[in-house]
Amino acid sequence: MAVIITIANEKGGVGKTTTAVNLAAGLSLFLADQPGINNRILLIDMDPQGHALLATAFGEHDAPPQQSLSALLVESPPPSIQRLLRTSVHHPNLYVVPSNRAAMVDASRVLPTLMANESRLNQVLRQVRNQFAFIIIDTPPNTGDLLVNALVAADHIIIPVEPSYLGVSGLRELQNTIEQVRLHFNPDINILGYLPTICEEQRIEVREILEQLEQRYPHQLLGPIHKASDLAYAHSSHMDIFTYKPPRQRQPGQLASSSRATKEYGDLVETVIQRTLT
Ligand SMILES: Nc1ncnc2c1ncn2[C@@H]1O[C@H](COP(=O)(O)OP(=O)(O)OP(=O)(O)O)[C@@H](O)[C@H]1O
Ligand SMILES: [Mg+2]
Repeated sequence: MAVIITIANEKGGVGKTTTAVNLAAGLSLFLADQPGINNRILLIDMDPQGHALLATAFGEHDAPPQQSLSALLVESPPPSIQRLLRTSVHHPNLYVVPSNRAAMVDASRVLPTLMANESRLNQVLRQVRNQFAFIIIDTPPNTGDLLVNALVAADHIIIPVEPSYLGVSGLRELQNTIEQVRLHFNPDINILGYLPTICEEQRIEVREILEQLEQRYPHQLLGPIHKASDLAYAHSSHMDIFTYKPPRQRQPGQLASSSRATKEYGDLVETVIQRTLT
């Protein structure tokens, strides 16, 4: 039964997609060598901009998908998710459901008018939950039905945090949304952790924020992920960091690093496995 992890923060540009793509790719790589366990990973792209999919599944020149996640969310009964699954070009055990910007924008308009509009994704994922080890969901940068669907479906949430005073004070809105989802739909939803991203360690403000986060969330602080040009280059080359800068030596249970970003996302992968599977 897949562990479902939603990557969420209503603030834009904080590293949600980068984290979703690299966590999904890292889990695929890490679990690929583990004998005897289900090693299939599914990446769901709830962001109408579809960056997660671009980065992992397609080469630059591929046409945008015709049928996509939006059909699963709004059609009754939904089409089979099985037929929509595509494999990443970089990892044979990483699957994605294509997302199409225009269709997702339409879906977010139509969803509020539908029955059970908060739990449509949850129902769709139930069809395939036993086929995957992890399902990772990337979310759009606003509050709305797409985010709520991703929270209702989740076992765990990872919250990428921009290391600024504004970024930290803005967390309250998301925490309130999560509390509402816990109250009405998903009593077991768990905040797996807060992940400071795009950290510039030489800035005093960043160091202060990291200390503040450590005091506030001593058992839930992940990372941090530092600002790294490798991550931006990997993204624009339609690759995850493990493909762009592969780990140099890999032993079972370890992703050794060739770049700091590979090491930091590799550490996140290991922490996620420890906290969810063991
Ligand atoms: N650690 C990092 N170091 C350097 N650049 C990064 C890092 N993490 C993300 N980026 C870059 O920052 C930009 C925003 O990241 P990303 O798209 O992951 O954020 P997002 O939260 O998904 O944004 P949106 O809310 O618009 O969906 C991208 O260009 C990405 O390549
Ligand atoms: Mg994004």
